[in-house]
Amino acid sequence: MIRLPQRPRTAAFAFALLAGCTGAAQAAPYTMFRDPGCGCCKECAAHAKSGLSHDVVTREDEPMGSVKARLGVPADLASCHTTVVEGYVIEGHVPAREIRRLLAERPEGVRGLAVAGMPMGSPGMEAGGRQDRYEVIAFGDAGRSVFATYPK
Ligand code: CU
Ligand code: CU
Repeated sequence: MIRLPQRPRTAAFAFALLAGCTGAAQAAPYTMFRDPGCGCCKECAAHAKSGLSHDVVTREDEPMGSVKARLGVPADLASCHTTVVEGYVIEGHVPAREIRRLLAERPEGVRGLAVAGMPMGSPGMEAGGRQDRYEVIAFGDAGRSVFATYPK
């Protein structure tokens, strides 16, 4: 019996992965800046990946203090990771459905959404099963407003 070499199968798999990446890259990416020492952001990135049609890119090459200052994240709304999508700033563990709503409605004077701190039960913070009440805050030139309240 002749054993078939493994190589063609591996190459086909790699090609399939590459084709998948090329397709996803057509939409503007959801670019998450995170600290390499933090784990909850990875969970939050996985949530964004399953809830948005955007390619999710994570970057760890800039200190978070500098990212937040550069993107103008209000200090009292800060969380761990900061994301840029289609020119909007998404701070912290914001549910993907609110990001989809923001991108669909594009409300005037809104520069971004934030979930301050790290509320238990928010996307990426589900470990332990505790569900805190938290608000998704819209911020920008129009001031601040409560975009959504969780749990729904
Ligand atoms: Cu976090
Ligand atoms: Cu984190």
